Amino acid sequence: MKEVKIKIKNLSLYFNYIQALNDVSIDIYSKKVTAVIGPSGCGKTSFLRSINRMNELISGFRYTGEIKIDGINIYDREIDVVNLRKLVGMVFQKSNLFPKSIWDNLIFAPKLHGVKEDNKLKDIIEETCRKAAIWDEIKDRLNENALNLSAGQQQRLCIARALTVKPDILLMDEPASALDPTSTAKIEELIYELKKNYSIILVTHNMQQAARISDYTAFFYLGHLIEYEKTTKMFTNPTNQQTEDYITGRFG
Ligand SMILES: Nc1ncnc2c1ncn2[C@@H]1O[C@H](COP(=O)(O)OP(=O)(O)OP(=O)(O)O)[C@@H](O)[C@H]1O
Ligand SMILES: [Mg+2]
Repeated sequence: MKEVKIKIKNLSLYFNYIQALNDVSIDIYSKKVTAVIGPSGCGKTSFLRSINRMNELISGFRYTGEIKIDGINIYDREIDVVNLRKLVGMVFQKSNLFPKSIWDNLIFAPKLHGVKEDNKLKDIIEETCRKAAIWDEIKDRLNENALNLSAGQQQRLCIARALTVKPDILLMDEPASALDPTSTAKIEELIYELKKNYSIILVTHNMQQAARISDYTAFFYLGHLIEYEKTTKMFTNPTNQQTEDYITGRFG
């Protein structure tokens, strides 16, 4: 019972004369974790950023192909990008919290989308922080500067912040790569928990992490999608020689 959430057809991405992705077609499944792996520069981040139209912020960017979410072409003229980014949340390698209170960080997006009353904001914050397994650590510190938190707490707060506008899809670009093993384990548990309600795409350089928490894995190399399989198949019996060389550490 797998349902397609994001349908990508013949996607190519360019930054001026650099081609970052080359004719990628892939179906991303609903309420699964899809890991995206591949060597540095192969197009993983550009791929993620095309799904919430963040590449458009870069001058010289152009694309060909099509991305549909729930059957709707997200590059269509009528699409409101602010609403698209509400539906498609993103978490980055390094926490990008504002140097403001934890409260201010968390209420920013719900306020932008029209929630005004403090008690409603409080409910949203508590609910999302519980989902992001950070509530107990911050509930008595809401007025403190968010940057006082540890790196691992900051990442979980970023995830909580992304959840405050009730997205369907979460894009995560190496969310644990700057963290110690304990914080990484917490993020992994959290991702595993979140996939019950969200479709997650996780970029990672950590093969064990991809193997542990993803359902599907996509291997990119030089802008091409080389192999896309169930994670169990990819890590035990990959079809492609380049995939095997990469996951066994022969290059990358
Ligand atoms: N803003 C930009 N301007 C110009 N070129 C870019 C830009 N962003 C990415 N590129 C180019 O697109 C290609 C893919 O980059 P991308 O960041 O998607 O790789 P990546 O797989 O995420 O790498 P890493 O593992 O190092 O994060 C690279 O050649 C890169 O130089
Ligand atoms: Mg990247």
